[in-house]
Amino acid sequence: MNEPDTKGVDYLSSALSNQLNTQTESLLRPPSFDEFVGQSKTVERLKIMAGAAKKRGEALNHILLSGPPGLGKTSLSFILGAEMGRNVRITSGPVVEKAGDLAGMLTNLEEGDILFIDEIHRIPKTVEEYLYSAMEDYCIDIMIDQGPNARSVRLNIPRFTLVGATTRNGLLTAPLRSRFTLQTRLDYYGPEDLLKIVTRTCHLLNVPVERDGGLEIARRARGTPRIANNLVNFVRDYAEEKGNGTITKASAQAALELLEIDALGLDEMDKRILRVMATTYKGRPVGLATLAVAVGEESHTLEEVHEPFLIQSGLVQRTAQGRIITPDGLAAIGLEAATS
Ligand SMILES: Nc1ncnc2c1ncn2[C@@H]1O[C@H](COP(=O)(O)OP(=O)(O)O)[C@@H](O)[C@H]1O
Ligand SMILES: [Mg+2]
Repeated sequence: MNEPDTKGVDYLSSALSNQLNTQTESLLRPPSFDEFVGQSKTVERLKIMAGAAKKRGEALNHILLSGPPGLGKTSLSFILGAEMGRNVRITSGPVVEKAGDLAGMLTNLEEGDILFIDEIHRIPKTVEEYLYSAMEDYCIDIMIDQGPNARSVRLNIPRFTLVGATTRNGLLTAPLRSRFTLQTRLDYYGPEDLLKIVTRTCHLLNVPVERDGGLEIARRARGTPRIANNLVNFVRDYAEEKGNGTITKASAQAALELLEIDALGLDEMDKRILRVMATTYKGRPVGLATLAVAVGEESHTLEEVHEPFLIQSGLVQRTAQGRIITPDGLAAIGLEAATS
């Protein structure tokens, strides 16, 4: 087998975990529904809820946003805050280690504020139970002191809105899930929507872009705005170093080739997964954990980042026996389906 080249993989994983500096990141974050491209169903649902809550003068109901990384969950929570004219406080599941951490955050909120909990499926079970009464009854009973002095104290919490985000909808417990009035899923973006995002990003960064150049980036961004924005940044650097600074079809293609991102937007890890499925497992079903070991990647990254995209693109299928590679998947790595 060829020596695996990890350049592309590193690039993608850093793209997924916020490679842009925070200044650029906040410049690019759409500030309102008007600037938020695509996801029409989710946007319509959120607009209706926000509009109605505002008219009634009430806090927004709790909302769960699910979907792969980089599709706009955090952005939407900020937009909801702006729409409602309230603060958005941000935390994340693994950070809320103890009930006391949660109590501290909740009691510091003001009426109508949004508490955004990212990766909410990773909140410890012991803390999760406190969320139930917080979400439902706007109070939280916590134990103070220990031993004979131990007693439970009820803290009242302002009417707040919990916006939860998760990349792993399936890992949320039923009681937690059922406390969200709206559960809505973000999907990968089509090339037209991504082209709008690429064009908007270039405009905000003052980068001249030709339509064909933008489309080239849009097509290879794995349906993901965050990746599109990262690619724009790299292609811009390339166009400045090697050309006249304009993102053209040719400069975009050459830059993306340098990153080893192919015409479908597959990166090295995607291709490695497909190669292992095709050659090591000869097209037979393979389990996720086995696959993770074979390609040398964490199984949760495979499940959250790579698999959804490969399935959505029709390159891999999930069956009861495991994951199998499709004929299109074989074609994507230059192999043909066995014709027998
Ligand atoms: N619908 C969209 N329209 C325009 N830009 C978007 C959209 N969704 C995401 N982005 C861009 O992608 C970046 C990452 O989105 P983010 O909300 O952080 O995703 P998530 O929280 O789902 O990982 C944002 O900073 C923004 O620049
Ligand atoms: Mg986020």
